[in-house]
Formats: sequence, C-alpha cells, structure tokens
Amino acid sequence: MKTLIVKYIPRYERSVTNKLLNEFIKSADTTELEILDLCESIPDFFNPENIEAYYLRNMMGKELSAAQADSLLKMQIMTQQLKSADIVIIAFPMFNFSMPGSIKAWFDSVLHVGETIDPRGGVYKGLMSGKKALILIAAGGIYSHGDGIGPYFGPEWEYAMSLAKLELKFMGYSEVLGVMAEGTAVLNEEAKTDMLNQKLKEIKKIAEAWYK
Ligand SMILES: Cc1cc2nc3c(=O)[nH]c(=O)nc-3n(C[C@H](O)[C@H](O)[C@H](O)COP(=O)(O)O)c2cc1C
Repeated sequence: MKTLIVKYIPRYERSVTNKLLNEFIKSADTTELEILDLCESIPDFFNPENIEAYYLRNMMGKELSAAQADSLLKMQIMTQQLKSADIVIIAFPMFNFSMPGSIKAWFDSVLHVGETIDPRGGVYKGLMSGKKALILIAAGGIYSHGDGIGPYFGPEWEYAMSLAKLELKFMGYSEVLGVMAEGTAVLNEEAKTDMLNQKLKEIKKIAEAWYK
C-alpha cells in the first residue's frame, strides 16, 4: 500500500505544518512512502502551449507532436505518481485564506480528464475511488468559529481545507479527512500547545487506523 506525501512547507523545520506531517509519518506503520516536495519540484502552470496540448490529447483524443507531449511531461509525471498511490497526504500552510499557489498548481497538474476524472456520459466520475486522502494545514487565524472579524474569521473565510477536500472528492477519493492547526498567530503559548497536542492526537489516530 503506497503512500504519497505532497508537501509545500517553505518554513521547513520552524513550520507548524511540518509538525503535523512529522506526526503522521511517525505514526504511519509503513515503509512505502514517497515524498513530493513542491518547494523543490515546482509544478508547472497551464500556459498557452500546454493547455492546447491538454485539450487536444485529453478532451479530443488527438495524437500530440513530440513538443506538445513534452509540454505536458511534468504534469503527466505528477499525475502518474498520484495514481500510483493508495493514500495521499497533502500538507501546506494557509496563504490568503486558501492554498498556496504551488499546491493549486499541483492540483491543476493532476486533476485531469481521462486520468483522474471521467466526464463521459455527461456525469463527472472521479477515477480514484477506493483511495484515501488526508489534508494537513496550519493557519494563523481561527476558522472553526468566529464572525468574519479577524483573526476570528470563522468558516465563511475558509477556502484552504474546503477547496482541497473538494478537489479530492471530485477525483473520487473514497475517504477525505483534514486536520487544521488553527490560530497559530492568535493563541497564547499555552493555548497553542494545547491546540497542537489535540491536532497531533487526531493525526496519530487517523494514521493508526489507516495502517493497522
Ligand atoms: C504569505 C502568507 C499568507 C498568509 N495568509 C493567511 C491567511 O489568509 N489566513 C490565516 O489564517 N493565516 C495566514 N497566514 C499565516 C499562516 O497560515 C500561519 O502562520 C501558519 O502557521 C503558517 O504555517 P507554517 O508554520 O507551517 O509555516 C499567512 C502567512 C503567510 C506567510
């Protein structure tokens, strides 16, 4: 059972997201771990060349020239890597109420018609059924409650976890879970430690259940 970790953790060891991810790795009883570090392997954005190739190949079933195929190569490698995994863990900090651009570019690289989704017959079908996903996020503000007045933003301001979950559900993942360490910029040290310990416990429980 292969697990893929997709991480974008630019503060490395100082990062709260990194603490969440380390807890998962420590608690997951598996040796089949592959890591995609998006700080090093920067995903491609769609541009005029590769979007044309994508439409031709994935929507219209056309053969591509060598140059067109090459323009999709990095996306293709990331897609195959995701498809080869039974479990995916996606870890990143919240930026501007959503996911950092690198994570969005990774989703744009793998959420491809004919690969992870099938729109034939007029109904979109995700092709990743039977697989599991866990999203780990650290956020400075509070999103579990609050009324839109920062830093107690509340659920209406949250587009990081909700969007990541939606992308994975769209690809057909059978189980999509998320743990968000919130309030890293708000809570005092004692409350922050309590919050983090609670989140680490949740992550341990998920990892133990998934790899038992
Ligand atoms: C560029 C940038 C944008 C951020 N935007 C938000 C935001 O919209 N909402 C929020 O709650 N925190 C925001 N933060 C704070 C981080 O999410 C928070 O500090 C988090 O703990 C960082 O994770 P890390 O410790 O893993 O680096 C932002 C931080 C940075 C650097």
